[in-house]
Amino acid sequence: MTRRWGIMGTGIIASAFVDAIRAEGGSVVAVSSATPGRAHRFAADHGIAVAASPHADLLRHDDVEVVYIATTNERHHLDAHACIAAGVPALVEKPFAVHAAAARAVFAAARTAGLFVAEAMWTRLQPATLRLHDELGSGVIGAPTAVQASFGVVLNSDPSRRWRSAALGGGALLDLGVYPATLAHDLLGPAHRVQATGQLADTGVDLTAAVVAEHERGSATWRCSMIDASGVWATVAGVDGHIWLAEPFHHAPSLTIHQRDRPVRQVPIDGHELGYRYEVREVHRCLDAGLVESPCLTHADTLAVLEVLDEIGAQLGVLRPTLAPVRP
Ligand SMILES: NC(=O)c1ccc[n+]([C@@H]2O[C@H](COP(=O)([O-])OP(=O)(O)OC[C@H]3O[C@@H](n4cnc5c(N)ncnc54)[C@H](OP(=O)(O)O)[C@@H]3O)[C@@H](O)[C@H]2O)c1
Repeated sequence: MTRRWGIMGTGIIASAFVDAIRAEGGSVVAVSSATPGRAHRFAADHGIAVAASPHADLLRHDDVEVVYIATTNERHHLDAHACIAAGVPALVEKPFAVHAAAARAVFAAARTAGLFVAEAMWTRLQPATLRLHDELGSGVIGAPTAVQASFGVVLNSDPSRRWRSAALGGGALLDLGVYPATLAHDLLGPAHRVQATGQLADTGVDLTAAVVAEHERGSATWRCSMIDASGVWATVAGVDGHIWLAEPFHHAPSLTIHQRDRPVRQVPIDGHELGYRYEVREVHRCLDAGLVESPCLTHADTLAVLEVLDEIGAQLGVLRPTLAPVRP
């Protein structure tokens, strides 16, 4: 069945997502922006029939069957609540919300309404991730007990852009740190002790964060940064070896398996270039099956990772936006 998507947001990722939806046989019937001019420009550039503004107006269009939320971080939860109130399922960009409490409220509302909602944590659906889980499941390095990772890329330092803005939910943790935090959670289970240090910008957002975390089944050390190009790499280790996820680890093009007393094994990953198409496919599959939660993108996992980011943010003294109240 062709699914009719609406897109909230007109940034870089919204543009990439239009291509992914179309490549998966879906259609994009409407786009919204806080500014009418940007909505119209995006619609014209991408051949989308309806340009809505403000974002909630997108939901007036009956044609919209499912919404992809790619707005700035501080309003993800508001946009998700608006979708739920309108009876429309939603895929919400990472981070699902700027803190766990806001995400928890969205999930509760979705459950009450019986509507599908999920975080667009596309890494979980990547072929490299699935292959990693297969390799680990077959015991090649023993049970994974240690994760090390870095997500360091230089993001635009223009203060008008969202990354330096506390009001827009900026900072390295929410945009970048969410990936290593997710990897550590998925491989080692929930974290129960977290220690962090890092650097803040004048605006109060975090520029870097370095984290040591004790998880249910091992320990993780990771760092995220938006001011140095320290790379996007990860390794997972067990008693019998380690697996290197090639850069960028969150959609890795290959794995390198270092097993004790065995030759190093390279595993190229087919299909890594399909990017966001896997999450579009997963949403279509869940909607077709009448699921309210994806088994690959669970609410519990989203919440557990956000709780870790909350704790790190509190330790660093990161300034988070005051969230607008959600009208029932
Ligand atoms: N999954 C991924 O790989 C991935 C990658 C990047 C980002 N993301 C997530 O996706 C969300 C959006 O990120 P993004 O990188 O697409 O952000 P972005 O390009 O900075 O756009 C975010 C919003 O800023 C406004 N905007 C865009 N260009 C503008 C301009 N030239 N002047 C003024 N305002 C402008 C738009 O607001 P209006 O919508 O109101 O027009 C847009 O929706 C974030 O939550 C981010 O964490 C995910």
